[in-house]
Amino acid sequence: MDIAGYLQGKKRIIDGALEKIIPKETDFPQTLHRAMRYTLFPGGKRIRPILAMTAYEVVGGKENGIVPYACALEFIHTYSLIHDDLPALDNDDSRRGRPTSHRVFGEGMATLAGDALLTEAFHLMTRETLRGEVDPRVAMEVIDEISKAAGFTGMIAGQVVDIESEGKKVELPVLEFIHTHKTGSLILASVRTGGRLGGASDVEMESLTRYGKAIGLAFQITDDILDVEGSRASMGRAPGVDKARNKITYPALLGLEESKRRCNELIGQAVAALELFGARGETFREIALYIGKRRS
Ligand code: IPE
Ligand code: IPE
Ligand code: MG
Ligand code: MG
Ligand code: MG
Repeated sequence: MDIAGYLQGKKRIIDGALEKIIPKETDFPQTLHRAMRYTLFPGGKRIRPILAMTAYEVVGGKENGIVPYACALEFIHTYSLIHDDLPALDNDDSRRGRPTSHRVFGEGMATLAGDALLTEAFHLMTRETLRGEVDPRVAMEVIDEISKAAGFTGMIAGQVVDIESEGKKVELPVLEFIHTHKTGSLILASVRTGGRLGGASDVEMESLTRYGKAIGLAFQITDDILDVEGSRASMGRAPGVDKARNKITYPALLGLEESKRRCNELIGQAVAALELFGARGETFREIALYIGKRRS
């Protein structure tokens, strides 16, 4: 299958939907809307919304009912990037092919643009629930899961341990905690959101969960590997920043070869988790393989 074409097509749908939600740059207060749009567009790979959309389709979800929830996941992710880059966290200068938000708008405005995106994610999902398109019980379960994945039991816990581990000697279980939380949680929640809203059965949810966990960790191992081997041109941000900040990463702890081996092993686990879906799992198989060999 043409996975690149598939990803591009889904990205177009997401971009169109995001564009409609965020106020125009000319709306007051302009700085806020400019700052939100600056990191959202043209944006990145949109992998979290794509995972949600794909899971939704795999289990038989109808039409575009997943799109608002998929946009919410991208809002949460984009806010996390803006805050991750702040001087108080990773202090990075480039993101998505441009100077980071705080370099352009200042730290205060970048922080607020992130706050607004995070909050809008939950507004968007509750508004959609109030519209009554989705069973409110299912919608509330999805919102519950996404909040946990983004908050102190998920992404924020990972970010805290990431920051606190800089320059320290930590063991593999701590590194695994960082990666499964700062990145894995939202990726897993994205896959499960699509499954849940698409009406997945319990066994389908179980397969999607194994798949989401495996690709979530693999995604961050690849992120670490790209920091060593990637280029600014393909990633849209500077490589080598992890080493400069003494970040605890897979290559730093285990070396490049072992990191790649573990990543491939996880991709294998992800593919194996799709067995239940048979031919319907083909797109997810291709996405897992893409995550294992992505260069951006
Ligand atoms: C980067 O995420 C930060 C991580 C959580 C690894 P992505 O690699 O998905 O970044 P974009 O969205 O494509 O810019
Ligand atoms: C980012 O991890 C995780 C979140 C944004 C939650 P990284 O700090 O490794 O991501 P990059 O490398 O800056 O994109
Ligand atoms: Mg970071
Ligand atoms: Mg970072
Ligand atoms: Mg990184």
